[in-house]
Amino acid sequence: MNLVIDRDRLLSEIETLASFSDAEAPAVTRIVFTPTDLKARAWLKEHCEDAGLSVRQDAIGNTFARWSGSDPAASVVGTGSHIDAIPNAGRYDGIVGVLGGLEAMRALRQSGFRPKHSIELLVFTSEEPTRFGIGCLGSRLLSGTCSADAASKLTDRDGASLEQVRLAAGFAGELAAVKLATGYYKAFVELHIEQGPILERERIALGVVTHIAAPASFRVSIEGSGGHAGGVLMADRKDALCAAAELILAIENAALTSGAIDTVATVGMCEIFPGAVNSIPSRVHLSVDIRDTDLQRRDAVMQKMETVCRAISDKRQVSIHTELLNADPPVDSAPEVIDALTQSCRKHSVSFLPMVSRAYHDSLFIARIAPVAMLFIPCRHGYSHRPDEFASTEDIARGALVLAQTLATLSA
Ligand code: GLV
Ligand code: MN
Ligand code: MN
Repeated sequence: MNLVIDRDRLLSEIETLASFSDAEAPAVTRIVFTPTDLKARAWLKEHCEDAGLSVRQDAIGNTFARWSGSDPAASVVGTGSHIDAIPNAGRYDGIVGVLGGLEAMRALRQSGFRPKHSIELLVFTSEEPTRFGIGCLGSRLLSGTCSADAASKLTDRDGASLEQVRLAAGFAGELAAVKLATGYYKAFVELHIEQGPILERERIALGVVTHIAAPASFRVSIEGSGGHAGGVLMADRKDALCAAAELILAIENAALTSGAIDTVATVGMCEIFPGAVNSIPSRVHLSVDIRDTDLQRRDAVMQKMETVCRAISDKRQVSIHTELLNADPPVDSAPEVIDALTQSCRKHSVSFLPMVSRAYHDSLFIARIAPVAMLFIPCRHGYSHRPDEFASTEDIARGALVLAQTLATLSA
């Protein structure tokens, strides 16, 4: 089988997809179900159809592009990732798994290979939590991790419900029907940039993901007392932002002192009310993101945060409310998919490193219903979720080649 990845086409498609953006280049912002996202989806659907794939979309907008196997009733071999991008992001996160997956399928077709199991490219809806506050919306529904009922209650910052937004975007049908039938997948492989520095540092071509870390996130509301920045004496203040500052540092410290480098915690959003230079902050909303490869350690940081909230609330006479948005367990990759990936690396003489993903991915949820593993491509300095995120065309093409070989093995 002669697999040829068309690098120029891959590069040009990555460039075109990056042009569907609500931020000035090189930054990319593409929030789910915005007009920009819908334009990008339409462009991608056309490319999948041009590649000879048949496309279907479910009620949440997950997009499946199928190459039917010689046994169309057999379980499916899946690949794919996401095309939504957080504010001020780069052009590779998610994208290399989608366009690299499409290119891998084209290379397989071109080579004359004919799969027994159908191969499907899956473009997940809203891997990023930007709009509805929870990440991996599409894969949570596909795997039954999130019920249709719970999903339909989600709202965005403007108060628009997921129901309203998805219908306006043209995705109708029952959310309950998104869940995939048991045994739908034979295997699923996601290609992604590493989003960390290890492959580049160690000069290893690819990463084979053996575990995905456990993510959790909270929305925290702090209610103090506002007033005049000149008139209210310091001793009489209940400044919500000062309470938030203490809490943010305590969360950082809880992660720093967990005893493992795998514990990470981030406060990425802070909204201050009323937000005036001469007004004491009366209300603050924070987002908290806590992750670890070890569930007990991750949960210990979450508990520490709750304890600190009570202590700050007592000390500063402010009320602190925490809302848990998600606390997902980690997953192990499936040995048979890891095996197919490592054999493919060996076949093409590509060096690889078994590694952990500290970022979450839709694979975290698909792993609940299918044997899953991921393939990582190095990215410069490990940068991701920022405009200067970069992966070389050579590295992406190498990832697509190994992915193609793996899809061939799994679908034969
Ligand atoms: C995914 O984008 C993550 O935040 O890990
Ligand atoms: Mn991301
Ligand atoms: Mn991603």
